[in-house]
Amino acid sequence: MEITYLRLIEEKREALWIGQQDFSGIFNQAGATPGASAYGPIEHLSYIKERRGEKIVAVESGSQKLLGWIGLFPDRDEGGLFYNLAGIEVHADFRGRGIGAGLMEEAGKYIQRHKTARLKFGTSPLLTHCAALFVTRFGTRYRWKEGVRISDGRPWPYVSCECDFDDPLFKPLDLRDEEVGRRSVLDWEGSKPAARKGIVFSGPLAVVLPSLSALELAEAVGSETGFLETLYSVFESLVMHGYGFAWFDRTVLAGVPRFYYVMNRLMAL
Ligand SMILES: CC(C)(COP(=O)(O)OP(=O)(O)OC[C@H]1O[C@@H](n2cnc3c(N)ncnc32)[C@H](O)[C@@H]1OP(=O)(O)O)[C@@H](O)C(=O)NCCC(=O)NCCS
Repeated sequence: MEITYLRLIEEKREALWIGQQDFSGIFNQAGATPGASAYGPIEHLSYIKERRGEKIVAVESGSQKLLGWIGLFPDRDEGGLFYNLAGIEVHADFRGRGIGAGLMEEAGKYIQRHKTARLKFGTSPLLTHCAALFVTRFGTRYRWKEGVRISDGRPWPYVSCECDFDDPLFKPLDLRDEEVGRRSVLDWEGSKPAARKGIVFSGPLAVVLPSLSALELAEAVGSETGFLETLYSVFESLVMHGYGFAWFDRTVLAGVPRFYYVMNRLMAL
């Protein structure tokens, strides 16, 4: 399938978005920016436009069927100009085919033409599909954000993220694939996480996770008592010991495909 990427605002193609009859496959689970996430798809485009941003869409070249989108708008911080990532979502039937990576690449080209290489956003480190895209593929830096809670008061593991297209994070070499199981601070009994006892906080450590999309995560949170609390406390305890997110990767442990963060005592992230 041939894919074209379009800048809806710059290329005056907004009608393609506004004219959609059905957004159900395409605008469902995106972690849009706070505030914007409560908007519907049409309001989301206005939200971005009001902030002089851009919505880049992936379409099937011939039919112009919408396959995915990424929202961007500029902002400033102590480091100067950057762009906010205001959501990214690929149509549920077309994931895992490189469209998310294509949208990120297009976002990188767009923001670099607008005089910055930095993209900032927030997400949950529990979303492994997102980490595979953002960290493994684009070298995004994750920084733990303490004290985030969901509406019922349960703790929500959350990270502030910065993707610097000019200066991506690289895979550290100090945790070999075969050491991941031994260096993990977390064990899984089926779909139940359990913090490992007697961890020595020295050298690289790993947080091993099963594959978790937004839907799989919602299911696990609903069915496993203490799921969020355990995972939050595992990350929190690493952070208290001076650890930060150094990398994200995949492996196979005891025949089961797993994902893992490499956690290093590095204050520089
Ligand atoms: C996150 C999302 C945008 C990724 O889009 P995608 O088109 O599926 O991603 P890609 O096919 O480009 O894959 C990017 C990387 O993620 C990995 N990946 C994609 N789907 C995966 C899956 N189901 N399991 C494990 N890894 C996966 C790919 O292997 C790829 O890594 P690689 O280049 O090293 O092979 C998509 O899953 C999505 O829309 N999710 C719902 C919305 C959402 O969660 N938005 C982000 C909120 S922060």
